[in-house]
Amino acid sequence: MAFMKRVVVKKPGGHRALELVSEREPVVGAGQVRVRVRAAGVNYADCIVRMGHYEAAKGRYPLTPGFEFSGEVDGVTPGSGFKNGDRVVGITRFGGYASSVVVDPIQLWHAPEGWSFEQAAAFPAVHLTAWYALHRAARVYDGETVLVHSAAGGAGSALVQVAKAAKCRVVAVVGSAEKVHVPRALGADAVVVRDRAGSFWKAVDEAAPQGFDAVFDANGITTLRPGFDRLAPGGRLVVYGFAEMLTRGRDRAGWMGLAFGYARVPRFNPFELTRLNRSVSGFNVVYLFNKPELASQAMGEMLALVGQAKLRPPTTTAFPVEKVAEAHKALESGATTGKLVLTFD
Ligand SMILES: NC(=O)c1ccc[n+]([C@@H]2O[C@H](COP(=O)([O-])OP(=O)(O)OC[C@H]3O[C@@H](n4cnc5c(N)ncnc54)[C@H](OP(=O)(O)O)[C@@H]3O)[C@@H](O)[C@H]2O)c1
Repeated sequence: MAFMKRVVVKKPGGHRALELVSEREPVVGAGQVRVRVRAAGVNYADCIVRMGHYEAAKGRYPLTPGFEFSGEVDGVTPGSGFKNGDRVVGITRFGGYASSVVVDPIQLWHAPEGWSFEQAAAFPAVHLTAWYALHRAARVYDGETVLVHSAAGGAGSALVQVAKAAKCRVVAVVGSAEKVHVPRALGADAVVVRDRAGSFWKAVDEAAPQGFDAVFDANGITTLRPGFDRLAPGGRLVVYGFAEMLTRGRDRAGWMGLAFGYARVPRFNPFELTRLNRSVSGFNVVYLFNKPELASQAMGEMLALVGQAKLRPPTTTAFPVEKVAEAHKALESGATTGKLVLTFD
């Protein structure tokens, strides 16, 4: 009987809520595929799941976080389209932080050739996010100018690359000077360092004097209104996260802080949207789990860009699964670049 390692959050909380357990490997059901996981992507959303504030996780505890993984197929049933030993990358609505997962074949793809398991595991969530943000929420066109916040992080790096692949002009904003090289290396046309006082908006305006056709914001509070104000006619503000609701470096959100953050989130008036010819939209990529065909289309398009060398393998920092708490701590610091992944030996 084979055993596996799995991270479990029995009750939402701080880093101590992440428990590593050993248990029997899951059995492959009819039409399913089992993967021996070698790496699992870590997303900011996983921290929010651990804290208990992630809407789609409510009522599901005890729960294993994790939306993405890579590894080798080690159990198939007829008709799955995969065979034992295939190197694959996959998505799962929770459960990714485990050394063995069982999924439907529609949640699996062959890993890009030449990529490490770490690089493959870091790919799906942020590229599905970038695909949805750019091609569904904002519907960007060739030649449009877009603004990407937190452009050195996981989702931000993907947005920069997918926007460049869509032939957009990209202005990237990062939280510190140490991060500037990341979006620059990914092809951003201008990179601006954010400061607390907000004087960085002057540099943003110089980089895009005509304003923006689309702005992608997961800070969620202070940059939303100034981003909206910089939309050109027909411009779209896409909101996809609220990182600023949490205090950097803290492993839990205080209710007072959340309430204060909520009160500061700007409200957009429909009269204003109509008068200015601008729109505001939001999304959560978890929605794609209810639309497997759409997720499949999106991953297909993203992997095709990899095949055309228009997307680079993600830059990763690996943590053995035993150090999952350190991975969450690093992500919550707001200082990381690229993607973090957990590895399983
Ligand atoms: N809606 C969706 O479907 C969806 C999907 C994926 C990600 N997201 C959201 O997108 C954001 C990025 O996710 P990610 O997994 O790729 O993480 P990440 O960008 O690798 O890391 C988070 C980044 O957010 C910025 N940040 C702003 N305020 C922060 C705070 N209070 N604490 C920590 N970081 C803060 C920091 O970058 P700078 O200081 O450089 O700005 C930090 O590096 C998160 O808000 C996440 O919830 C949403």
